[in-house]
Amino acid sequence: MVTVNRKAHFNAAHRLYRKDWSDEKNEAVFGKCNNPNYHGHNYELIVSVTGNIDPETGFVVDVKVLKDLIKSEIEDAFDHKNLNVEVAEFNELNPTAENIAVVIWNKLRPHIATDKKLEVTLYETPRNFVSYSGA
Ligand code: NI
Repeated sequence: MVTVNRKAHFNAAHRLYRKDWSDEKNEAVFGKCNNPNYHGHNYELIVSVTGNIDPETGFVVDVKVLKDLIKSEIEDAFDHKNLNVEVAEFNELNPTAENIAVVIWNKLRPHIATDKKLEVTLYETPRNFVSYSGA
């Protein structure tokens, strides 16, 4: 099995908070990320597809197809957006790096062949990143 990785990037704003918590509890748990005026991150995304090499093409997946898929499903939906306000998936879901990675995986999975494994790695900062592979 071989893994093909494609890097992508988007800038987005978010705020971490729960409506059902007090201001004090939101501040205690989410700290700076609870800023009511939102704040931005430069998200770096790595999409990894693992599978057998197609003997005819020599590809596991066509990187051009993967690139276009990430653009249409993720970058066009998230880039330069306020995730809480403008992206429906986060209307009721806290846009933590963990939840963003799961949402990205769920958006891409239907477009990847079922015999391939999909993993998403999302960097919220150069030092903080999460991975999700569907389980
Ligand atoms: Ni943040």
